Amino acid sequence: AAKTYENIIVEIRPNKVALITLNRPKALNALSTPLLNELVDALQVLQNDASVGAIVLTGSEKAFAAGADIKEMSTKSYMEVFQNRLFGQTDAIVQKIQKPVIAAVNGFALGGGCELAMMCDFILAGENAKFGQPEIKLGTIPGIGGTQRLARAVGKSKAMELVLTGRFMDAAEAERSGLVSRIVPAKDLVEEAVKTAGTMAAFSQPIVSIAKECVNAAFETTLAEGLRLERRLFYSTFATNDQKEGMAAFSDKRDPKFTNN
Ligand code: HXC
Repeated sequence: AAKTYENIIVEIRPNKVALITLNRPKALNALSTPLLNELVDALQVLQNDASVGAIVLTGSEKAFAAGADIKEMSTKSYMEVFQNRLFGQTDAIVQKIQKPVIAAVNGFALGGGCELAMMCDFILAGENAKFGQPEIKLGTIPGIGGTQRLARAVGKSKAMELVLTGRFMDAAEAERSGLVSRIVPAKDLVEEAVKTAGTMAAFSQPIVSIAKECVNAAFETTLAEGLRLERRLFYSTFATNDQKEGMAAFSDKRDPKFTNN
């Protein structure tokens, strides 16, 4: 049974997929500190749960998340945000979660909501999705990776326009510009994401994590270093039983039985 929380719902599906639903509907899933702390805790629990192979993070049909909680942070002083490392707990999402995480975005993914979606491994968008970094309208800037990850995802020109004007982009523009991998009808989005996560959960877990690590390295390092890492990790897969099993199953014309070692 999944752990229970106040601001999120965690469900374990039969296909080794965990579904996390942000659940502060009255505030359009604004990312309060309690919500973010629960989310990071849930992800760490799922990372350590051998029965889970992949994770889907979603919100509601109206909002994935409409940003950091503006009411909570509006009166904070510089020293409070600095000393308490406001949003610092979110670093664990990228640094500690080796299992694949899909963001399934319906409705608004704004500010911290867009940044949270971009921290996931890929984004599936409902056709009603809206992405934006409107912090400029509040007299601040993105602070959970928006300027960096949006620029890497969609390029300088579009990232600059969105960050400097606060304009939202719809699902079609987000797909065209490479922010999202696919668009799905809004009502089918969560189940399509769970199915896609199930595909990954059925593969060898350590190999999926190695593949994720390699793609992430593309955003951190030079091409030469990234290629070196990829080649080394490719060789390392030959030390696993799952590589032997996967290739033997192909030759035997049968489905592989991966054992995660
Ligand atoms: C706190 C929020 C909120 C937010 C919405 N709500 N977004 N509360 N923080 N980010 C609350 C509203 O106050 C309202 O509560 C309820 O949710 C419903 O919102 P409405 O505005 O009434 O809905 P609607 O008219 O449909 O407009 C939807 C919206 C709008 C366009 C998404 O809510 C909006 O512009 N929200 C703020 C978007 C934003 O600026 N996000 C960036 C946040 S800054 P009540 O109680 O009044 O009914 C950020 C910084 C990241 O993320 C880190 C760097 C600092």
